[in-house]
Amino acid sequence: MILYFSGTGNSRYVAEKIKEATHDDVLSINKRIKTSDHSSITSQKPLVFVLPTYAWRIPRVASSHILNTTFHGNQKAYFIMTCGDEIGNAAHYLKKLCKEKGFEFYGVAQIIMPENYIALFDVPAKPEADQIIEAAEPSIQSAIAKIMAEQPLDPCGINFQDNLKSHVVNPFFYPFVVSANKFYSTDACIHCGKCVKLCPLNNVVLDHQVPKWGKNCTHCMACICGCPTEAIEYGKASHGKPRYYLENK
Ligand SMILES: Cc1cc2nc3c(=O)[nH]c(=O)nc-3n(C[C@H](O)[C@H](O)[C@H](O)COP(=O)(O)O)c2cc1C
Ligand code: SF4
Ligand code: SF4
Repeated sequence: MILYFSGTGNSRYVAEKIKEATHDDVLSINKRIKTSDHSSITSQKPLVFVLPTYAWRIPRVASSHILNTTFHGNQKAYFIMTCGDEIGNAAHYLKKLCKEKGFEFYGVAQIIMPENYIALFDVPAKPEADQIIEAAEPSIQSAIAKIMAEQPLDPCGINFQDNLKSHVVNPFFYPFVVSANKFYSTDACIHCGKCVKLCPLNNVVLDHQVPKWGKNCTHCMACICGCPTEAIEYGKASHGKPRYYLENK
C-alpha cells in the first residue's frame, strides 16, 4: 500500500511513479485527514509512505495520522521523503514512529524535488522545476527497485548539522513559523473555491466568496501555490514569485 501526503504535488507524483511500477494501491493521506477518515488499513504488500520534508522531518500532520491509524497485514515500512534540499536526520524519528506502530523500518529515501516553500524561500519557475524533476528520476527508480525486491533502502549518512536541524530546529519550527496569519487573497480572486478544496486541514473557507484562513494550518502551501489566478499572497514574502504546483498527470 502506498500512502502519500502532498501539499503541492511532488510527493503525489513520486507515489504515482511507485504505483506505476509496483501496481500497488495508493491512498491519499490528504483525503483521509480532510474527511476525518481514521478507518484501518490492510495491506499484503509493504507500506510505502511518500511524504514531503517539513523542517527535516516528516510533517506532523502525517505522523499523527499514521499514529492514529491501525494497519493490518504487512508491517514493513518504507519512507520516501521528497525535499527541496535535504531531509536531515528524519530517519531517527521514523525509526521511533515504526517502533511505536510495530512496523519494521525498511529505510528512508531522500528524493530532491522542486522547493515549494514560497512563504520562506524562492521556488523554481517551470523550466527549472522540470529539470529538477528529471534529475530526481534515478533516485526514484533506485527506491522503486528496493521496494519491489522487498529489500531495505540504503541508509543515508548523518552528520552533526543533520542532527541539529532535525532535533533542535524542528521543535521551534511549528510554534514560531507555521501560521496562516499572513495569507490573504487579492483582487485577482475569481472565487472558485479551489483553495478551500485543496486545504487538507479544512483551514480555508469562503466568507461571502472571499477566502479566509483559520488557525489550523500546517504550511503545506497547497492554497497559495494551487490558486489558478495566483490571487493568494503570504505577507510580502510571496510577492512577484512564481508559484510551484505539480498537477496530477
Ligand atoms: C513547511 C515546509 C517545510 C519544508 N522543510 C524542508 C526541509 O526541512 N528540507 C527540505 O529540503 N525541504 C523542505 N521543504 C520543501 C519540501 O519538502 C519539498 O518541496 C517537497 O517536495 C514538497 O512536497 P509536496 O509537493 O508533496 O508537498 C519544506 C516545505 C514546506 C512547505
Ligand atoms: S483558489 Fe484563488 S481564485 Fe479560487 S477562491 Fe481561492 S483565492 Fe480565489
Ligand atoms: S491553509 Fe493553506 S498552507 Fe495551511 S494547511 Fe491549508 S492549504 Fe496548507
